Amino acid sequence: MATLTEAQRAEAARILSEALHWTEYADPAEAAVEVARTLEDPTRSGLAAVEDGRVLGWIGVIETYSHAWELHPLAVDPPRQRQGIGRTLIEALEAKVRAAGVITLYLGTDDENDGTNLYGRELFPGVLEAAERLEATNGHAFTFYRRCGYEVVGLVPHANGYGRPDIFMAKRIG
Ligand SMILES: CC(C)(COP(=O)(O)OP(=O)(O)OC[C@H]1O[C@@H](n2cnc3c(N)ncnc32)[C@H](O)[C@@H]1OP(=O)(O)O)[C@@H](O)C(=O)NCCC(=O)NCCS
Repeated sequence: MATLTEAQRAEAARILSEALHWTEYADPAEAAVEVARTLEDPTRSGLAAVEDGRVLGWIGVIETYSHAWELHPLAVDPPRQRQGIGRTLIEALEAKVRAAGVITLYLGTDDENDGTNLYGRELFPGVLEAAERLEATNGHAFTFYRRCGYEVVGLVPHANGYGRPDIFMAKRIG
């Protein structure tokens, strides 16, 4: 990300805004702030997929624990989704953080859009039983992460309002 031009950084912000249009990043100013944070915060970094000078998608990481870092955010330009770019970005990030001595890469993938069988439900008590029965119902990114080798390690019920949980996933990469 650090080598991107100003125009490419703006493109990265647009992609975040459009790919995650149901989140706070729908606001272009919020998306631009996220790009800037990834570039400027010393505990963050990122990688971009670039083709002929055009940004196709990008991924960030936050150095949260000594040996477990958080993948955040990940966005692929909507017309270029399902072409292997997301997987390529994750694999490149895994190689980068593995080289830094990280053992576990983890992430939160919210269900704010009726994308899984957890949406709209009370998950207490028995949160971990609900996690074991988790299924995507509507193209939720959880399936993508599972195909990339991530497993569900927990849920935060009602993280984004009643029935809108965050789904935590992780993978041993080192
Ligand atoms: C989720 C996202 C990053 C995936 O990137 P992508 O480039 O579209 O995914 P890829 O083409 O690399 O897909 C890799 C695999 O996951 C599968 N996959 C990708 N998105 C999927 C989805 N929404 N539902 C089910 N499977 C999916 C692909 O079919 C492919 O399967 P394979 O193992 O058979 O090859 C991208 O679609 C995106 O930016 N979505 C909107 C933003 C978002 O949800 N970000 C994550 C927030 S936590």
